[in-house]
Amino acid sequence: MRTVSTVAELRAALPREGVGFVPTMGYLHRGHLALVERARRENPFVVVSIFVNPLQFGPGEDYHRYPRDLERDRALLQEAGVDLLFAPGVEEMYPEGFATRVQVEGPLTALWEGAVRPGHFQGVATVVARLFLLVQPQRAYFGEKDYQQLLVVRRMVRDLGFPVEVVGVPTVREEDGLALSSRNVYLSPETRKKASVLYRALSAMREVALKGGSVAEALRAGEGVLAEVPEFRKDYLAIVHPETLLPLSDWVAGARGIVAGRFPEARLIDNLEVYP
Ligand code: PAF
Repeated sequence: MRTVSTVAELRAALPREGVGFVPTMGYLHRGHLALVERARRENPFVVVSIFVNPLQFGPGEDYHRYPRDLERDRALLQEAGVDLLFAPGVEEMYPEGFATRVQVEGPLTALWEGAVRPGHFQGVATVVARLFLLVQPQRAYFGEKDYQQLLVVRRMVRDLGFPVEVVGVPTVREEDGLALSSRNVYLSPETRKKASVLYRALSAMREVALKGGSVAEALRAGEGVLAEVPEFRKDYLAIVHPETLLPLSDWVAGARGIVAGRFPEARLIDNLEVYP
C-alpha cells in the first residue's frame, strides 16, 4: 500500500480505471473495514482517503478533539489489502482562498441532521465532490449508519452527473446493537452500557411494525424505550420515507426509523429499516 498526501502524488499513483473508493475521516473500525472489504471484492484498485474535514463540523462541535491515529489506520488498511491511501492536510484539500461550496437543497439536507447541524451536509457534499474529482472512482462506498449522508451523496451524484456508482453498505454493530462509530471512544464505560438504547428503540419500532401495528404505535414504542435512559437527550426519533426522509403517517416498504441525540460525552445517531 502506498500513502500519498498531495494531489500531485495522488494523480500520479492512480490507475486509469477500476478504482473503488472509500472516503473516511480515519480512526477506523470494523464498519470502515466492511466498506474496504466490499470495495476490494468489486474493484481491481482500492483507494481510501483519511481526512477530518473541517467544513462539515459546526462551531462548538468536535473537530479539534475528533480522534486521529494515522499509524494505526495505515496498518489496518495495509492488512485489508488497500492499494493507495490518500491522507491530505487541510491546506492540500482547501488551499488558501478556497471559496467553493456544494449545496444540495431541499428537505434532504434541511431535515434531521441538517436541522441539528446547519452547514454539515454542505461540508460533506463539498469534500465528497472534491474527493470524487481527485480520485475519479468508478464506485464509492458509504456506510448506511449515516443514512442521510448516503442519500445526500446519491442526490449530488445524480444531479451533477458524477460518473460514480454510490454503494451503501449495511451498518456494523457491537453485540448489544450499538452501531460502530469513531465517536464511540468518547463514551465513558457507564454511558457505553446505555448507548445501545438507540438500537433498542429502533428495534422496538420494527417489532411493532412486523406485528401489524401502526406508525404511531411504533413511534410510541420507540419513545418508551428512550424514556428508560434519561441521560440520552433526544434530538429526534422518527419513521421516515427511505428516499425522501419525510415523516410517514402510514407504512411504506423500506420505511426507516431514525434516531439521534446526546449523551453527556457524545452525540450518537442510528437508523434501521423498520418496515421491510
Ligand atoms: O462519513 C464520513 O466519514 C465523512 O462524512 C466523509 C464521507 C468521509 C466526508 O468527510
